[in-house]
Amino acid sequence: MQSETDKRKKLFQELLDNNLTTFLITFHPKYAQNFGLVDKPVFTDVPTPITEPFKWDYNSMRKLLYKLGDILSTDEAERRQVQLVNPSLKKFPYLGAIAISPTIFAAIQLVKKGEVAPSHHHSPNAFRFILEAPEGRAYTVVNGKRLIMHRGDLVLTPSYAWHDHRNEGNGDVIWLDGLDAPLVWYLGAIFFEDYFKKYNKSLQDITETEKENLLKYGDGMLPDFEKEDSYDPLYIYPYGRARETLIRIKENSNKMPEEGYVMRYVNPNNGKDIFQTMAAKIRLISARNKTKKIQKTEHIIFMPVEGECTVKLDDVEYKLKENDIAIVPPWRSYEIVNNSNKDCILFSYSDEPIFKAFGLFRSQINQ
Ligand SMILES: [Fe+2]
Repeated sequence: MQSETDKRKKLFQELLDNNLTTFLITFHPKYAQNFGLVDKPVFTDVPTPITEPFKWDYNSMRKLLYKLGDILSTDEAERRQVQLVNPSLKKFPYLGAIAISPTIFAAIQLVKKGEVAPSHHHSPNAFRFILEAPEGRAYTVVNGKRLIMHRGDLVLTPSYAWHDHRNEGNGDVIWLDGLDAPLVWYLGAIFFEDYFKKYNKSLQDITETEKENLLKYGDGMLPDFEKEDSYDPLYIYPYGRARETLIRIKENSNKMPEEGYVMRYVNPNNGKDIFQTMAAKIRLISARNKTKKIQKTEHIIFMPVEGECTVKLDDVEYKLKENDIAIVPPWRSYEIVNNSNKDCILFSYSDEPIFKAFGLFRSQINQ
């Protein structure tokens, strides 16, 4: 006679053979993991993200980027970059090759002195946060707008905007690339097109400069005579302005707020995040100070621009120097500690707007 266990096993197998499963073997908070189909139940008390916290050291990444630079030209590579892969995602096809989180991509990209990266556009949104910039002109052209890049600048290349990169400076340029490509790929919504294929040349004509872009959109005012862009029209957020704002706010306050002095980069058209899928922020953590313990449903990526700090989770801590990168997955409790005698300015980006759009955003500050 067949035992109860055998009967169940047989039926579960029959379900799988018919491309079906059932709550008990996938979702059930107590039993699901016993059946070997999922590592952990889908329904857990609190989020148990498939992404793990992790840190990447800038100097190690930079060395490998230059090794790539020795064997790959920008012509051949289109974009020469080192992509950050979250170790926990390696087992997932595709995500394991490109993603720092299931929603977000991160890479560091090199355009050497004299090189150009040809123009293209795609449905994923992208930004660059400039890590190393040469004297002279290294710039990105976005829909005809030339944006000269300096260390700490944030440059947007929104969904479907044509963009190319040119380095006419006296040294190399390196930046952090942030994209929502993993999410867009999962949703089945990737479109990509080379400028050359459409216009028979690889670079766009320049129709405007970064100064004109800032004059039009960078002062809390909008040109009333211009049609609204469907995306953030302010393509460049210079570091000098961001830094000045942070320092001014700190100097006019007698106590650091719970998460540090945090500024969000916003679209001047609507006051919302730079992209519908990604938020970017910059914060100052004063010398010898720390944040409260923070928990949020977002994958957040931190990178110091000036100074050093430690991102401390319950079981692990990441000491971050300038340009080092760390990720904190959703709902993991963390605090940012600055043990040094110098203020730390920390850039971050996350998928917070996705959680907000679907009513899944939760935030908690613990003592
Ligand atoms: Fe691109």
